[in-house]
Amino acid sequence: MKIITDKQELQNITKNTTQTIGFVPTMGALHEGHISLIKKAREENELVIVSIFVNPTQFLAGEDFDKYPKKDVADKKICELAGVDILFMPNISMMYGIDEVTIKAPQTRGFILDGFKRPGHFDGVLQIVLKLFNLVQPTNAYFGRKDAQQVILIKQMVENLFLPINVIDCPLIRDNDGLALSSRNAYLTSEEKTEALKISKSLQNATKLIVAGNFDINQIKKAMEETMEGIDIEYIEIVSKDLNQLKIIELKNTIILVAVKIGTTRLIDNIWI
Ligand code: PAF
Repeated sequence: MKIITDKQELQNITKNTTQTIGFVPTMGALHEGHISLIKKAREENELVIVSIFVNPTQFLAGEDFDKYPKKDVADKKICELAGVDILFMPNISMMYGIDEVTIKAPQTRGFILDGFKRPGHFDGVLQIVLKLFNLVQPTNAYFGRKDAQQVILIKQMVENLFLPINVIDCPLIRDNDGLALSSRNAYLTSEEKTEALKISKSLQNATKLIVAGNFDINQIKKAMEETMEGIDIEYIEIVSKDLNQLKIIELKNTIILVAVKIGTTRLIDNIWI
């Protein structure tokens, strides 16, 4: 595996290859969720590139940018074992200059759900993903469904800006107890982790209701609230796969999303129906 920190060096390779490129952008602190993306990229492409870059522009003031988990040594090992060809690890000045051209998330879909609580977050995500796409020029780019709104907006960016890239959304991965894997789970104490299990439980209960034929959004939200009693719920939303509000559950076109705060840690989870 080649580790590259210089964008020019990366571009020299990606510009001159005829191989198919599978790309997995990450912010590091890799877990099984990332590994599943890398494995899929490995299966479907000749060259696999992973980036690790904690992107400052997607964090709002007061968020956890400064304390975002850093596990460079373990991450390099994980990438090597997973068969990554190139690991791109730039620093901030490699990726950003001053007074830059910026990209804006769509005014509606980018400012609901997580974008409502974190206004500007998706501007930063799209900005860095576009920069990385331009350097890597991937054939296929892999993102987890855990960040449902993120992958939907990235697909929209690719469509709106006519980028010749396939964006592939991959299943959300859970631990044995059902907690959705996230680098931020590292912040949870063991009591908080027990509390956090109510999130996936609420999504399971929602699924059970739907399987039993209950497509009523208000009843499903109420049942979820009850399962998450005691938790500081930021939102429970039920939307279509292009993020529009739904009146009732539509099979194969529904995402149920949850955001909560457990202690000081913000967690999101979802299920695609
Ligand atoms: O999902 C993430 O880890 C980040 O938002 C991404 C896509 C790597 C952009 O910084």
